[in-house]
Amino acid sequence: MAERIPLETLRLQAEECRACPLCEGRTNLVFGTGSETARVLIVGEAPGKNEDLQGEPFVGAAGKNLNALLALAGLTREEVYIANVLKCRPPGNRDPQADEIQACTPFLREQTRTINPEFIVTLGNFSTKFILKTDRGITGLHGQLQQAGKFKVFPVYHPAAAIYDRTKQAALEEDFRTLGRLLGNDPAPAEEA
Ligand code: URA
Repeated sequence: MAERIPLETLRLQAEECRACPLCEGRTNLVFGTGSETARVLIVGEAPGKNEDLQGEPFVGAAGKNLNALLALAGLTREEVYIANVLKCRPPGNRDPQADEIQACTPFLREQTRTINPEFIVTLGNFSTKFILKTDRGITGLHGQLQQAGKFKVFPVYHPAAAIYDRTKQAALEEDFRTLGRLLGNDPAPAEEA
């Protein structure tokens, strides 16, 4: 088996990457954060404004939601690893383009090989379609355990898409509780009405 590249080495390689034009507009690379030996790898779409400014994934409103969802699964940010499909912010938060995904995903592939998680939680359509190599949308896939090679893949709605959509938020919360059960974690107490 090919050698696993340390995350810090990969991060330095990503800092040097000029494979697509997104590097020209970024403030910071958003490589990923968390445990190099995480059981759970969380994969979002691309950095937004706050992430670009701080160099960390999911630090804005969607990140606040993600932190609360992780707690429902009995997880903390420190024990999981959080990354995105794209490491640089697309201008104006537009959707990632096919050529950008192609240019950037070798980094995500190597991060996955190095971390070697048991579960990959894909947030929203872009990361789900990339990890599962599927055209099926997140609406039909969320909360259903899938397999990609040796990895268990658990697709869920994107936490940003759920902020103003109570139905999606309820589904996300249910799915993260299911994730906690799949991990064998203690159930988080139900919220009081
Ligand atoms: N949305 C994402 O997909 N990733 C981030 O890091 C922040 C918001």
